[in-house]
Formats: sequence, structure tokens, C-alpha cells
Amino acid sequence: MKRLQLDDQTRVLVLTGAGVSAESGVPTFRGMNGLWEGHQVEEVASPEGFAADPELVWRFYSLRRDGASKVQPNPGHHALARLEAALGERFLLVTQNVDGLHARAGSRRMLAIHGELFQSRCEQCAQPFADAHTYFARPLPTCATCGRAIRPHIVWFGEMLDPAHLEQVYRFIDEAGPKLVFLAIGTSGQVYPASGLVDAAHAVGGKTWLIDAAPSEGYAARFDELVIGKSGEVLPPLFFGP
Ligand code: APR
Repeated sequence: MKRLQLDDQTRVLVLTGAGVSAESGVPTFRGMNGLWEGHQVEEVASPEGFAADPELVWRFYSLRRDGASKVQPNPGHHALARLEAALGERFLLVTQNVDGLHARAGSRRMLAIHGELFQSRCEQCAQPFADAHTYFARPLPTCATCGRAIRPHIVWFGEMLDPAHLEQVYRFIDEAGPKLVFLAIGTSGQVYPASGLVDAAHAVGGKTWLIDAAPSEGYAARFDELVIGKSGEVLPPLFFGP
């Protein structure tokens, strides 16, 4: 069994994807064949989808909220929170997951680059909306400031990531230089810019690992090390030994 070797100079950047939450019972996006109730996920997770049918989009996210509120973090999430506690500011977690499970496991040095399932905001003025309920029904809520629709605080297909998040990630990579260890866990590497972090890590001389139950071939080829397994099973011994 491989073991991550860290010295007191090492900086660890972790990118997680849907696979990390799979053992908690959250379905992965591509595991659903990209479909929800016969709709392409891109159709409901996009600004165009929201403009065309906000009720459908809210129903999709209400069901996802319901699902995520009923599951628990798994040993993979807990191992990452423990690694953060050991490394302090030499650790940064970047997650593509919106389910909130990393935070519930205790992760704090974390950027949810694809948004947060349990937050909402105005589509126009970005004013956060205090969610009184997990579910939305007719009439859909509107912004108290400008009257426009309230939308999920999710980075949809075709939308930009928060530039402040990206800046923080790239600063961490630059400051780490060759002392960087980059771990991608449970992600198929199909969505940019998250999928480009492995190249940014190599560019500064860092080491890269992919940990995935069924790695995507093309993505896996871009890493130095590959660990095939379920994150809840392989992360604790990888970080802390048997
Ligand atoms: N442990 C580790 N890896 C797992 C496990 C597990 N228990 N179960 C599944 N996997 C792996 C799969 O083999 C796959 O490589 O997790 C990966 C999940 O891939 P995707 O479903 O494509 O999820 P992700 O990479 O997070 O998607 C990225 O795309 O759909 C958009 O914005 C959405 O954040 C999402 C982004």
C-alpha cells in the first residue's frame, strides 16, 4: 500500500470531485449518465436552463438538497480534515462538490469552487438569500432588494469560477513550488479549470497523485502516481499508515 511521504516543507493541494461523496450515497454526476428525470444535467444546471424553466431547476436543486441533507461525511472526508489539522496553512482543499460534506467533516481551509448547494443568491445583484427552506414551491422567491429571481449559489455550465478562488489556488501553487504535492481525488477531470490544476502543479515542479475508484484514462496519464480505490478506504492508510 502506497503511503504519502510528507516532510515539514511539503504543501498539499487537494482537488476533490464527486467520487469523494459517492460512499456517502451522493450520486456522481457522470454516474447518472448525465441525466436527471430524462433531462440532460446541462439543461438544468445552466443559466439558459434557469431562464427557460426556473421551477424545473429549483426542483432539481431542492431534490439534491434533500439528498445531501440526509447523508453523512465518510472516512475519506474525515481523513482530509485530519490531514488539514496536521498541516495547517500548508494545506488547501479545492472541492468541486457542492454538497457541504467536507465542511461537515471539519474541513476549513477549503474553497468550494463550484458553489454551495445550501446557499442561494439573487441572479441579478448577487445579494445572498437567507434560505428559510430547503425546498422551493410556487411562487419562487425573489430578491428583496431588486425583485429579480433567487437562484442556487452554484457555478453552472458555461459560467466562470470566482476569480478570487482561482487566485488563491494559483498563489498556493506558486508559493509551494517544488514542495507541492497535488492530490486529485474522485474526479474524472472533465471540467476546466479544475482539470488543469495537475498541469499547473507540474509546471512548478510539484508531484501529482490521482486517487480514484475507476480513473479516467486520459486524465490518469497526466499524473505521477495513481492509486486505484475508493477514497473512504484508501485515504486513511495513504495519509496516516495502516
Ligand atoms: N472513491 C473514489 N473515486 C470514486 C468513487 C469512490 N468511492 N466513486 C466514484 N469515483 C470516481 C469515478 O471513477 C470518477 O472518476 O469519481 C469520479 C467522479 O467523476 P464525475 O462524476 O465526472 O465527477 P466530477 O469529476 O466531480 O465532476 C466535475 O462536473 O458535472 C460537473 O460541476 C459538476 O463538479 C462537477 C464537475
